[in-house]
Amino acid sequence: MSDQLKEGISPVELETIRRGLLSATGFDIGHYKSGQMLRLLSTIMSRAGVKDFQDYLTLLKKDPQKVEDFKHYITINVSEFFRDKTLFDYLDHVVILQLVERFKLLKIWSAGCASGEEPYSLAVLLEEKLKQKKSFDYEILASDIDAEALNRGITGIFPEKELKNVSPELKKMYFDKKQNDYRVQDKLKRKITFLNHDLLLPMESRKFHLILCRNVVIYFREAAKNQLYSNLWQSLEPGGVLFTGGTENLLNYRNFGFEKLETYFYRKPISK
Ligand SMILES: C[S@@+](CC[C@H](N)C(=O)[O-])C[C@H]1O[C@@H](n2cnc3c(N)ncnc32)[C@H](O)[C@@H]1O
Repeated sequence: MSDQLKEGISPVELETIRRGLLSATGFDIGHYKSGQMLRLLSTIMSRAGVKDFQDYLTLLKKDPQKVEDFKHYITINVSEFFRDKTLFDYLDHVVILQLVERFKLLKIWSAGCASGEEPYSLAVLLEEKLKQKKSFDYEILASDIDAEALNRGITGIFPEKELKNVSPELKKMYFDKKQNDYRVQDKLKRKITFLNHDLLLPMESRKFHLILCRNVVIYFREAAKNQLYSNLWQSLEPGGVLFTGGTENLLNYRNFGFEKLETYFYRKPISK
């Protein structure tokens, strides 16, 4: 079957695979672009040493670790600190300044946080703002569907290449260097709560002033993207801002009820 996956399959077979994986792992590949999912699935099956899809399902049902491996591989976790530096500069100099004027306890959600590079970058920015005697406090929720990535985030140890956008001063201030790795200091860690959460399910009743959802929707189908952006709109407080990825220009932002602050920054109007 893994060769068959590479060669293409019928919609009925695709639906059988979708259902099988959903029942074995809780992950619905139907929300994602099928070509990418099948390519990844084929590689995961070869790595697990199975050729037949039913055998792979049996393996998943028997071994919870294989389910975590599946989720880890099927989701792409590449990240880095201050990804798209100029956009983080705008976030820092304009958006956060406006938000801390309005909200004294800034509630932030890094949605699809991978291994934590994004929420830790935010925490660095906010700690620096606090030093400028701005009177506010903040808390960050960092969520992802991939338990392995979240565990790396909780550990807070990063290779040097992921910190290429962090200045030497900030590295010194917020990280401890151990051989070639950088360890996040506790003053950042205690501001962040990591949570395993599927973004295609609504987030309970929690509301945020700033949501980062960046480089998550690349493989989502159109319907899943729309579902996600309406979920995120629901999770914002009026006046709150959504920050998307550097290639995720939301052209139809008005359909969800957003107003555009700047490309990649969308605000929920105060009056709604
Ligand atoms: C490429 S990383 C982006 C990380 C970070 N936001 C950044 O921009 O560097 C995409 C993340 O989205 C997560 N993801 C994909 N689908 C998801 C879903 N349905 N729910 C939650 N997270 C998801 C993946 O596990 C992965 O960690």
